[in-house]
Amino acid sequence: MTKPEILVTRAVFPDVVERLSQYFEVEANPDDQLYSKDELIAKLQGKAGVFTTPSSSITAEVIAACPSLKAICNMAVGFNNIDVAAATQAGILVTNTPDVLNETTADFAWALLLAAARRVTESEHWLRAGKWQKWRYDTLLGADIHGATLGIIGMGRIGQAIARRSMGFDMNVIYHNRSRVPEQLEARANNARYVSKEELLRTADHVMLALPYSPEAHHTIGAAELAQMKPSATLVNIARGGIVDDAALIVALRAGRLAAAGLDVFENEPAFDPGFLTLSNVVLTPHIASASEPTRRAMANCAADNLIAALGGISPPNLLNPEAMAKIQGMAKG
Ligand code: GLV
Repeated sequence: MTKPEILVTRAVFPDVVERLSQYFEVEANPDDQLYSKDELIAKLQGKAGVFTTPSSSITAEVIAACPSLKAICNMAVGFNNIDVAAATQAGILVTNTPDVLNETTADFAWALLLAAARRVTESEHWLRAGKWQKWRYDTLLGADIHGATLGIIGMGRIGQAIARRSMGFDMNVIYHNRSRVPEQLEARANNARYVSKEELLRTADHVMLALPYSPEAHHTIGAAELAQMKPSATLVNIARGGIVDDAALIVALRAGRLAAAGLDVFENEPAFDPGFLTLSNVVLTPHIASASEPTRRAMANCAADNLIAALGGISPPNLLNPEAMAKIQGMAKG
């Protein structure tokens, strides 16, 4: 029996590609070229599945131009690079990689908060520049984490993992989310208290963003929201570029309207706003919150599991559009 053909849009762990090739004819991309939209469409001709990452946009136009496609499996929990509605309409299964990255991503949110609020990277640049000539009482003073109020916007699985870690810092946790989470989850999340976005911005000492990107979430933090935050506050974004208005954030950081920020994601990344590079009160990382070796492996294998199931006629473990499955099953029954 001939194997279905799939495309792996970016370089991934060779052993995961090897695993996929037991089931599929794989067109991989070990040189990690970035495909244009037209190249992507050309490469997807005749392919039944695509193993993709957030850096490849599987838009309605791509979907319409690739009629052989049956499954789109993203190696990421966020899936705003995929037009899920268009895929559903076309009867294509879409999957993501939730859960496997929660703890690693939450760890990294804390790395950014600690580094930004306590000026860790700024201190290191200062020291490396030979500026450490004597001890001074006010060298690189930062904000305290312990005992502070942590505001989390987006209390999904990653937000909850972030909140749990705040117990060790004796923090008071408040959160805002589309809706309140069940009480037992709030209790596990260091007794997080549900508040309005306005109250969170006004009262939090540090704000972490852990919500998925959607058109409604675009610029959740813009100039108006930054103006509501405490000038001593730190903002951390490990969610997605576009959730923060980066230009407005640069203005606020430059004006000292906000003390510091820790950012792993940016608008238009990797071509982020160069204004950030002129600021010392921001910690910048290249979208690596989930990038521990075991977690990136788990994500790659999770995406592979989904693709193997989807093209094997089994409902994939992380199916985002069960309506598409129902559609396929309906068509099979005739
Ligand atoms: C990474 O950004 C992800 O969505 O998994």
